[in-house]
Amino acid sequence: MPQYTKAIVRQPGKNFADGITTSNLGKPEYEKALEQHNAYCEILKRCGVEVIVLEADERYPDGCFVEDTAVVTKEVAITSRPGNPARLGEQERLASVLADYKLIESIVAPGTLEGGDIMRVENHFYIGLTKRTNIDGAKQLSSVLEKYGYTSSTVSVNDILHLKTGIAYLGNNNFIAVQELAHIAQNSNVIILNKGEEYSANCLNVNDNLLIPKGFPKSKQNIVDLGYNIIEVEMSEYRKMDGGLTCLSLLF
Ligand code: GLY
Repeated sequence: MPQYTKAIVRQPGKNFADGITTSNLGKPEYEKALEQHNAYCEILKRCGVEVIVLEADERYPDGCFVEDTAVVTKEVAITSRPGNPARLGEQERLASVLADYKLIESIVAPGTLEGGDIMRVENHFYIGLTKRTNIDGAKQLSSVLEKYGYTSSTVSVNDILHLKTGIAYLGNNNFIAVQELAHIAQNSNVIILNKGEEYSANCLNVNDNLLIPKGFPKSKQNIVDLGYNIIEVEMSEYRKMDGGLTCLSLLF
């Protein structure tokens, strides 16, 4: 797995509850979201990462989900072009911060792409084709990645917001996935999620610590059984807005 030294995060704004969601879990509480965001940043620091915190930008209620704004490798940051018009423009601030650290390449129209649709497995990138990421965006990403020696392939994703809403690569050839996406991991070990535990597909490996959302005991046990050092993270307010652990940071 890549080892990370930095993370960019953006705080949720007071209008966080006005963001896009399909969940029926009720409105998130701003103060609680901020508290959970601070706790998330502290966990990243414990994992050895310097955390760069950007202030909220209330033009973008979903702006704390910074993962969607770029795909970052050792050599390059490819800024995205969000597929939901309400999120278009979020990438600009992140591009200006990333430019201090990386060469910048960009996805351009008519391509759309959100980082939540990109799953890295060693030097291969799976690109989920969803309502947010189209084939043009996928082709652009693929050709930039190829320049830097990475391979990629597309995978169709239906009825799920982003590819990584339903699958995560844990490292050491292990995946966790909802049934519909388990085929991606066909030559690997895959934990297939129980009904009701689908949200726990979105896990995040940070320097060999596996962050998992709190409240999913079967997934937790299955992951512990594989020998991972886990850290449980309270994500209740972000879950209400269709956000997960990977969504809250850009790691590099
Ligand atoms: N609320 C996250 C998204 O829909 O993009």
